[in-house]
Amino acid sequence: MSASQELEKAATNYALEAVRLDKQGSKGMAITMYQKAIESLLKLTQLYPEYSLNKVYIQRAIAYQERIKAIQGAVMAPDPQQNSREAEEQRTSEGSKSSYEELIVTEKPSVKWEEVVGLESAKKAVKEAIVYPVQRPDLFPLGWPRGMLLFGPPGCGKTLLAAAVATEIDATFVSIDAASIMSKWLGEAEQNVAKLFGSARKSALEGKPSIVFIDELDSLMGQHSNEVGGEVRVRNQFLKEMDGIVDKGKNLHVYVIGATNKPWDLDWAFIRRFQKRILVPLPDHHTRLMMFKLYTSHLKLDPNVDLHELARISSGFSGSDIRDVCQSTQLKLIGEFFESGQANNKQASPRALTMDDFKQTLEERKPSVSMDMLTLYNRWFDAFKAL
Ligand SMILES: Nc1ncnc2c1ncn2[C@@H]1O[C@H](COP(=O)(O)OP(=O)(O)O)[C@@H](O)[C@H]1O
Ligand SMILES: [Mg+2]
Repeated sequence: MSASQELEKAATNYALEAVRLDKQGSKGMAITMYQKAIESLLKLTQLYPEYSLNKVYIQRAIAYQERIKAIQGAVMAPDPQQNSREAEEQRTSEGSKSSYEELIVTEKPSVKWEEVVGLESAKKAVKEAIVYPVQRPDLFPLGWPRGMLLFGPPGCGKTLLAAAVATEIDATFVSIDAASIMSKWLGEAEQNVAKLFGSARKSALEGKPSIVFIDELDSLMGQHSNEVGGEVRVRNQFLKEMDGIVDKGKNLHVYVIGATNKPWDLDWAFIRRFQKRILVPLPDHHTRLMMFKLYTSHLKLDPNVDLHELARISSGFSGSDIRDVCQSTQLKLIGEFFESGQANNKQASPRALTMDDFKQTLEERKPSVSMDMLTLYNRWFDAFKAL
């Protein structure tokens, strides 16, 4: 297969997986996959700038980016009515098809450690707690932790880190969004949680480690005081399963990674079962610089683009914000290129991105995390940290 065919196939596979996860309600993982699809498409257009399909590729990339924005918007401002509408649709159109099989990430995200910028202590903790025990269990006679909680502001790499773990070890990776456990499984949530862990154990018994990744863990806590949603039972089932891994599965490689933007919603019964609790913080200046480097590495930059300056003026931005700034700036430029008709000339290629292009994008947005929120994360970390 030629390089372009391979990239196109990769983009298609990522997109299919993204759509599947999106439907299933695994928002974080869906975003990661859409992101991968966009990256493949952009690489494709840069590899063959004169290729006639490029317009289609860019349109697709823009469509995926819009979907990401929509999902992110929904994550930040949940629309309960939409949730129940979706749940209704799911029930009527697919019956009880939201089965365990659909939760497994089949297309490995292929996120490399280097793609997770910064977060050195979080990466180290993940490797020590999961990657090394899987590779050499004989070196851990005292056992190893099975539960790891990643918490911190949205868009800073929790889901990305979990995807990197999935790539790194040859493990069965089950990804589920706790919000969708509650909204989609409704009456079956409790049984499905049991099934999920049962299958994870089965895979581990057959010699293949499994990682259960639960995104938006806080949704299991349920804000409703009544039992209508069944949160209490689901939550208890979940706690029981986590205990089961530790008690009965002494040598089994079943791991649970939980992620949350709202650790303060978790109660102690939950918190203590995650022996490792790791803050995934907002990027500092140096990390933002590395992010700008990463996300502009495939772009054509004018010499006046000063990445240090961009890192400086993007204080408070998350990794997700920064990636978005780079991608939007690029997509805007390519869009203009097509609009102006220049793309019809096979010899023409888009101009380089300038500092002004980036500044303009930056001005159009605010950091998605406030200072008050940061204080809350640090306070929670001081109270409950377990590295
Ligand atoms: N530390 C990081 N390094 C590189 N990219 C990042 C980082 N944090 C976030 N991103 C970008 O933002 C996207 C969303 O991040 P994600 O891991 O889903 O955040 P979270 O789960 O913490 O809300 C990622 O797919 C990636 O493109
Ligand atoms: Mg996430």
